Amino acid sequence: MNYFKYANGELFCENIKVEEIAEYVGTPFYLYSMKTLKKHYTVFHEAFSPVPHIICFSVKANSNLSVLKTFFDMGGGADVVSGGELYRALKAGAPSEKIVYSGVGKTEEEIKYALGKNILFFNVESEGEIYNLDKIAYSIKKKARIALRVNPDIDPRTHSYISTGLKENKFGIRIEEAKEMYIKAKKLNNIEIVGVDCHIGSQITEIEPFIQALKKVLSLIDQVKKEGIRINFLDLGGGLGITYKDETPPYPDIYAGKIINEIKTRDLNLILEPGRAIVGNAGILVTRVLHTKKGEGKDFVIIDAAMNDLVRPSFYGSFHEIKPVKPTKRGEITADVVGPVCETGDFLAKKRKMQEVLPGELLAVMSAGAYGFTMSSNYNSRPRVPEVMVMDDRYYIIRRRETYKDLIRGEEIPEELFKL
Ligand code: LLP
Repeated sequence: MNYFKYANGELFCENIKVEEIAEYVGTPFYLYSMKTLKKHYTVFHEAFSPVPHIICFSVKANSNLSVLKTFFDMGGGADVVSGGELYRALKAGAPSEKIVYSGVGKTEEEIKYALGKNILFFNVESEGEIYNLDKIAYSIKKKARIALRVNPDIDPRTHSYISTGLKENKFGIRIEEAKEMYIKAKKLNNIEIVGVDCHIGSQITEIEPFIQALKKVLSLIDQVKKEGIRINFLDLGGGLGITYKDETPPYPDIYAGKIINEIKTRDLNLILEPGRAIVGNAGILVTRVLHTKKGEGKDFVIIDAAMNDLVRPSFYGSFHEIKPVKPTKRGEITADVVGPVCETGDFLAKKRKMQEVLPGELLAVMSAGAYGFTMSSNYNSRPRVPEVMVMDDRYYIIRRRETYKDLIRGEEIPEELFKL
């Protein structure tokens, strides 16, 4: 359910024409619908209402301050994985008691920053990290609240690059070793054990892997209880998939229902870290056709957006639907939709059946709200594109287009180079 819909022969975002925004801000740009963001957050939150929970939005999916503020204002928290994400979350008004910090490689500087801000807890991913946290917490006279991120060795049946809960993946502590690790952590003076965490992957479209992982984690909770260790928070990570093409992921209420069923008799606070499920279908990338040309058995549609703006198709072979902003009655073509970047891997779609388009026309690359802008780069010295938020019949530029000056910000030419 989202608010990108056709009316009177053209694409609208809520109550405003996409074309009107394109005329004003230029192309390409990311466009988000506030109503969709709020709707998705609310559906997720309400699905878990029978149990105590916090929705810690996964900042990596979309870290724009206005997007984050929207969720924090609705009572959400944040899942962060770097000092930079923590900074953004706090700037956007995240309550520190609703921030969890994950990631396999946190630096001393990042740990001190998070301890200083009194975040809810760290998701710890290795034995070394526990000792490190203890030492750093001691040095600044703090106690570090922790959850162990366990790796349950469950196949989430998703793209191998975004599978995280298999034993060959770098994430988490092997579940067989977790009990021993809890016992060791309990002995440390500056560590307070508060929870257990598990995140098995992303774009997961079936419920079973989540439940299999959950069962393993619940059994671990029972084992450590016998050692006198009480687990208060159960963090189940993110990972719920969305429909890009014809996937049929479980709706949040089904996903939540099955989870609640497993934990309802337990005294646990649930933490969820959804990213894609909340923002994925709340954003699109709007781009303009620059040229079209005939290729071998297919056409090329050359657009002004490229892999540096949306890398998912090049990186994971992901499918994003591409729709004309103003559909016509022209016939169908089979085309590679490609950008101006000098890489053969620069494409947003391959051999796509689509309506014939002409230079100057606008296209909407759908489902681009998650891992779109956040994974964009300046490759080929292309300024990063603006982000725009629609609220009913109004729109706001929530991040301006970068300028050429922005591209060289921070660079310096040493004096010596002028003397050569
Ligand atoms: N929590 C942790 C610890 C994570 O590593 C992730 C995502 C999430 C939560 C949020 O997962 P979500 O609900 O969005 O599935 N760039 C890839 C996705 C990478 C996901 C990384 N971790 C893509 O574009 O598909």
